[in-house]
Amino acid sequence: MLRRIPLFQDLSDEDLVLIEELAVEKQVSKGTVVMVEGTIGDSLFAITSGRVKVFMGDEDGREIILKILGPGDFFGEMSMIDSQPRSASVAALEPSTFKVLSHEAFAQCVERAPRIATMVMQALAKRLRDADRKISTLALMDVYGRVANTLLELAINDNGKLIVGEKLSQQDIANMVGASREMVNRILKDLSERGYITVESKTITIHDEKLPPSF
Ligand code: CMP
Repeated sequence: MLRRIPLFQDLSDEDLVLIEELAVEKQVSKGTVVMVEGTIGDSLFAITSGRVKVFMGDEDGREIILKILGPGDFFGEMSMIDSQPRSASVAALEPSTFKVLSHEAFAQCVERAPRIATMVMQALAKRLRDADRKISTLALMDVYGRVANTLLELAINDNGKLIVGEKLSQQDIANMVGASREMVNRILKDLSERGYITVESKTITIHDEKLPPSF
């Protein structure tokens, strides 16, 4: 199980046994909030199954989804590194399991396999790149372009078909692009009518990679 998490792939079998002993397994049901923005915590969560959303919210219940993470990904590294409160909240989008490493356990892992530290740095650099892209789309594109861009970013090639693998509600997409659910509904309808996409029980198939940037 641990071997499938890229962060641990360089560890020897012996080290993996040690981590297996150090890591605490956590299982949560859909909807469970695993981390709350602003709270203190210093453990790192590696996802062994399921999917989570990383998000920030306000008092009115509005939220922006920063990222959706799945098996092999990890989160919680930021507070573990800088001892500051959690930068965002994390909630399970489906039943999920994690291997949770405390700060001390993580330090032991790094001692055994220093490349883990480099991999965390690489993951942080990728997150910053993704975040920069998100800032630029939020600032420079209109809602139509943001929805089109998000669909293309989430799309995977499934036997020659470009599909959005994540089963997302229109509200989820709205929370990813900073728009209302009604607006996302209008845009998806427009893209469907123009033949660019097909939406079937939350699975979106993209027929043309050149999605139009506006109505
Ligand atoms: P931490 O701040 O400890 O707790 C919340 C976690 O969410 C954070 O660590 C990261 O692991 C994760 N996170 C925060 N912002 C982003 C982002 N923009 N993209 C992906 N993951 C993020």
